[in-house]
Amino acid sequence: MTIKQLKLGALLHGAGGNMSSWRHPNATADASVNFQFYKEMAVKAEDAKFDLIFIADGLFINEKSLPHFLNRFEPITILSSLASVTSRIGLVGTLSTSYSEPYTVARQFASLDKISDGRAGWNAVTSPLEGSALNYSKKVHPTHADRYKIAGEYLEVIRGLWDSWEDDAFIRDKESGVFFNPDKLHRINYEGEYFSIAGPLNIDRSKQGHPVVFQAGSSEAGINLAAKEADAVFTGHESIEQAKEFYQKVKQKAVEHGRAADDILIFPGISPIIGRTEEEAEKKYREIASLVTIENAIDYLGRFFDHYDFSKFPLDDPFPELGDIGKNSFQSTTDRIKKMGKEENLTLREVALRVTTPKSQFTGTPIKIANLIQRWFEEGAADGFMIGSAVMPDGLDDFANEVVPILQNRGLFRNEYEKDTLRGNLGLKKPENRYTASINQAEQLNTGVK
Ligand SMILES: Cc1cc2nc3c(=O)[nH]c(=O)nc-3n(C[C@H](O)[C@H](O)[C@H](O)COP(=O)(O)O)c2cc1C
Repeated sequence: MTIKQLKLGALLHGAGGNMSSWRHPNATADASVNFQFYKEMAVKAEDAKFDLIFIADGLFINEKSLPHFLNRFEPITILSSLASVTSRIGLVGTLSTSYSEPYTVARQFASLDKISDGRAGWNAVTSPLEGSALNYSKKVHPTHADRYKIAGEYLEVIRGLWDSWEDDAFIRDKESGVFFNPDKLHRINYEGEYFSIAGPLNIDRSKQGHPVVFQAGSSEAGINLAAKEADAVFTGHESIEQAKEFYQKVKQKAVEHGRAADDILIFPGISPIIGRTEEEAEKKYREIASLVTIENAIDYLGRFFDHYDFSKFPLDDPFPELGDIGKNSFQSTTDRIKKMGKEENLTLREVALRVTTPKSQFTGTPIKIANLIQRWFEEGAADGFMIGSAVMPDGLDDFANEVVPILQNRGLFRNEYEKDTLRGNLGLKKPENRYTASINQAEQLNTGVK
């Protein structure tokens, strides 16, 4: 019997996930725009047999943004370069459905998928920050609800475009001069509320069929979209109970949409801090936390609330009542922060520091981290994890060198890539081309009638 194994993604976020990681003595301060650095991290993750590397992104910055956000690579561009220095690891990049055109994005990810020979993935986000509109010639930032409606149509269209060519459409017969079979070319002719797209797309499918689609939004609307259209969800949960509840909900909703529970994978993001002893891990945490000033923390907190200015409130007063502020931004995250502030009677200072330098339960010895990962996986809180690092390269090094071997020894994680596509390694089915599928179905019916 083969045991089900967990999946791992490595978040590559410049010098690290912590706001002030670039100041750490071991950090590469210009990591966000340092190709050599990204290459080393991608190769390291591939050596450790991670399923994928993951590049987050955003479309609006100001002086209060995280240093990593101020000056960083565009995801498709960096992933295309990394495709040629890696051969097995998946390449997942973030691109917004609110500020892009499906035809362009379908081409970009299809191209990355073919350049990498079936290793591309797209993290479809709806863009939480209002300022994004200012960079995309838009008068207003769509509301949270509208952004998800747009995303719903967008994903429908993009999957249709990716099926423009059946897998055997290109004949390329030099002798006869036949380049392609026109019967195997299909136009989507989509007319929706937001998009009107004829097709066909000018690139065919890779050997994994479609790039793997991730979704990263945890509100009800986000869950609904993921359950219907996504192959995987990137999410963040502090406790195993919350994570289990979320996991059940997404899988249940996917089943309601006629899919199998295993057709969608849930990846909570964690950021382990690892030491040979508990004390060493604690010391590393304190060192990282001490890099962040309270002013940094207030700015970091404000970004989730669309760069809301928290500096106008006294730091040691109870966390302010915010009403609907944050609802149109990172809604699920701001709801969680408000709830935490209220339920635990925290001050503004406490909330800002907790959000900016959270003391994760995944702090401790490699065995402790591996035990927690195993528990979350076996108890149905996760199918895999996105591994972030407060400071790079230390975080990824520690995890790859100390925790991965324990998971491998326990049979919970692979020793070698099983398949030659991202979809294959994640255990996801290759989507059959919709036109080929309907033709096959019609033929079967005809044969049945005869
Ligand atoms: C774990 C996680 C990661 C996210 N990563 C990104 C990102 O890289 N870029 C981005 O623009 N938005 C990102 N988002 C924002 C979501 O796409 C979404 O716009 C926002 O969270 C509001 O939706 P929600 O209320 O459904 O969570 C992320 C959200 C979550 C929860």
